[in-house]
Amino acid sequence: MRVLVTGGTGYIGAGLVRALLERGDDVVTFGPTSDPGRIADIANDVTVIRGNLAYSSEVFNAVKDHRIERIFHLGSMLSTLSNANPWASFQVNVVGTMNVFEAARLFDLPQLVFTSTIGTFALGAGTVVTDHTIQRPATMYGSGKLYCECLGRFYRTHFGLDYRAIRFPSVIGPGTKLRTVAQYNSWMIERPALGKPFDCFVTEGTKGPGMYFKDAVRSLLMIADAPRDSIVMVNYNVGGLVPTPTAKELEMEVRKHIPGAAITYVPDPAIMDYYATAKTETFDDSCAREEWGWLPEYGSLDEIVADFIHEVRTDPSRYGLP
Ligand SMILES: NC(=O)c1ccc[n+]([C@@H]2O[C@H](COP(=O)([O-])OP(=O)(O)OC[C@H]3O[C@@H](n4cnc5c(N)ncnc54)[C@H](O)[C@@H]3O)[C@@H](O)[C@H]2O)c1
Repeated sequence: MRVLVTGGTGYIGAGLVRALLERGDDVVTFGPTSDPGRIADIANDVTVIRGNLAYSSEVFNAVKDHRIERIFHLGSMLSTLSNANPWASFQVNVVGTMNVFEAARLFDLPQLVFTSTIGTFALGAGTVVTDHTIQRPATMYGSGKLYCECLGRFYRTHFGLDYRAIRFPSVIGPGTKLRTVAQYNSWMIERPALGKPFDCFVTEGTKGPGMYFKDAVRSLLMIADAPRDSIVMVNYNVGGLVPTPTAKELEMEVRKHIPGAAITYVPDPAIMDYYATAKTETFDDSCAREEWGWLPEYGSLDEIVADFIHEVRTDPSRYGLP
């Protein structure tokens, strides 16, 4: 199948591109640079297109010229960047996503998979968030993603587009660059694995729901492959790590592998403000489990930490690490 992955050279996108190639798909990536970045080692097997989601014609050309049959739309400005530049975020995350939906409609694409976020839940959401929890985001990023979830549902009912989407919690894995609210989950493991100190920017008791990056990729393939009539909820929470550990519990698991890990706590007041608003501790993904059989492979802290350290130590360059 000819598959377009917007954001395909990014953190989750690169893993998805590798998985799609292994399945025998023809993969085209779309992003703001022609540098293959995280997929440099497989760049000869992929078509890397330079383009801006905010320019509809660039999106349309990519879909038309490569006779795309399925889109995974991962391209986005993440939370920190969106909040720092809400105007650009609107163009990329909202207008850009509308451009992708329009390309799918105009070129009769059979399917479009979108990636949303736990950040669409915030105000008043409580500690347990299900697919039925009212979404009242508190950020530019979450607001844009929520609008696009609603827009996708409209395209599904109004135009018959086979739109389906996943909301990720914090995706834990090696090589993340941006300091987002829950990024401490990844860096708490990565920095010690690289022999570096880590100043954790949340309190020891903070819980930021997460899932392993390999499971994030698997969930995208699973939702794409699910029979159309199994997709009822349409926009789905997916989780992995249950129960959500505190930062301290994560630290203790890392210490089982790296006893001398240099981890200290220097909570960032701005980030702790976020946790005072968004109190989610349990990201309930029952609908994904019931409707299309979602089940994480890495469901416990020990499995994630062990595999993460192994990845960092055996193949750091794959993740852009020294
Ligand atoms: N990483 C997480 O913890 C997390 C959590 C929830 C949701 N998500 C979602 O998953 C998707 C992938 O995120 P990621 O973690 O791989 O982030 P990432 O920043 O590594 O990837 C985003 C990609 O979008 C591309 N992009 C940015 N602006 C663009 C533009 N104007 N035109 C075209 N491409 C553009 C970037 O170049 C990058 O490759 C995103 O939609 C994100 O919102 C991620």
